[in-house]
Amino acid sequence: MLEFKKITEEYKDQLFKLIDVVLSNIPENHFIPYEQWELDSMFDEENYAPLYGAFDGDKLVGMAQLYVSQEMMSGFKKDFGLEEFLVCELGGNLVLPEYRGQGITPTLQKIELEIAKERGFDYIISMAHPENPSSKKSLEKVGLKYYKTMSVAGGFLRDLYMLKLK
Ligand SMILES: CC(C)(COP(=O)(O)OP(=O)(O)OC[C@H]1O[C@@H](n2cnc3c(N)ncnc32)[C@H](O)[C@@H]1OP(=O)(O)O)[C@@H](O)C(=O)NCCC(=O)NCCS
Repeated sequence: MLEFKKITEEYKDQLFKLIDVVLSNIPENHFIPYEQWELDSMFDEENYAPLYGAFDGDKLVGMAQLYVSQEMMSGFKKDFGLEEFLVCELGGNLVLPEYRGQGITPTLQKIELEIAKERGFDYIISMAHPENPSSKKSLEKVGLKYYKTMSVAGGFLRDLYMLKLK
């Protein structure tokens, strides 16, 4: 039985192993690479991103983040036409291949969605490569709506999704 909870620093080694395993085995353009400051801020839920995981016993098998940094969000806010709003982003959705298709990502995203509401965000956004159906399907499952397709962050083609929270 899987357990869903915050990923704390004691799981740091497992977290970076999960990131490494998943990102080494997907098409390069499906994930906008982490910047070093993000890797250094993995457990900073106030200024960077609340971080939740799925655990099989003591094994971390999936993760999801809610990017809350408005500095990080400023370019995306323009892409979405949401400059004047408080916006956060669902991302960092990485699940070990043998645990996919069990609803781990939508379950984690629902937790992140509740945090976004509690923290008073106006909109929640997310982006998926047009040829990443599992990623897009999980966004639709938690209620985000397709907005448009465009190139973001200096050349990553993405389907843009968003949900108004208030
Ligand atoms: C994207 C990802 C996080 C989804 O995680 P997950 O926990 O397996 O998500 P789900 O269990 O909801 O499964 C995804 C859904 O997509 C569906 N799906 C998978 N491949 C599909 C395909 N080729 N066509 C259509 N639907 C597909 C699954 O059937 C499932 O839907 P269902 O539950 O209605 O049957 C996971 O596949 C992953 O780690 N991928 C690699 C990293 C990545 O691309 N992350 C996204 C960028 S942030």
